[in-house]
Amino acid sequence: MLRTFPALLLSAAALLAGGCATRPINDGELAVPADYKSWPKFLSAVQRPDAKQVREIYMNPAATQAKAGGPFPDGTLFVMENYAALESTDGKLATGADGKLVKADLLRVFVMGKNPGWGQGAPEALRNGSWVYASYLPSGEKGPDDLATCRACHLPQAGKDFVHRYDEYFAQKK
Ligand code: HEC
Repeated sequence: MLRTFPALLLSAAALLAGGCATRPINDGELAVPADYKSWPKFLSAVQRPDAKQVREIYMNPAATQAKAGGPFPDGTLFVMENYAALESTDGKLATGADGKLVKADLLRVFVMGKNPGWGQGAPEALRNGSWVYASYLPSGEKGPDDLATCRACHLPQAGKDFVHRYDEYFAQKK
């Protein structure tokens, strides 16, 4: 008892200092934040005719503190809704009066977040700093996607904090 007591005190202090919110997590462990639809938009109506999709990307308020040229702060969360683009009866992608693709069914909700110590369970070659990834179906169930593919495709963006639309976001940020 006498020997374990200081260790207990230390871990209690670490918990208080770190808080439970930053418990190290890995891919698939990030939940869909309940209030994300009230968050600022990172980018809206991202046009992906190649994938026959339209995407809405939200960022949590903490993420808006990021400055061009720097990384996103710890505690950043992104939520990306992937919608099927509406197809007309001739099989072509439909466009609205604004010339943009029209959103049809929601296919997936992707979540991406960073905090110190997160994502360290990933193989070293696939580490994306301290970002972790998760995929959900519209029902809220986990998506069937292999989360290693998220890492592999975001990895080349290391110089932009692994965020694909980094330049586009800062170019239009007011
Ligand atoms: C084949 C490459 C590729 C894969 C695989 C991929 N992404 Fe992305 N991701 C992108 C691109 C490109 C964008 C920019 C938006 C767009 O063009 O659709 C993006 C954007 C994002 C964003 C918005 C922030 C940003 O980087 O601009 C999130 C969040 C995201 N992806 C999460 C995921 C998750 C979660 C997975 C795995 C389930 C995943 N991605 C798999 C290429 C990929």
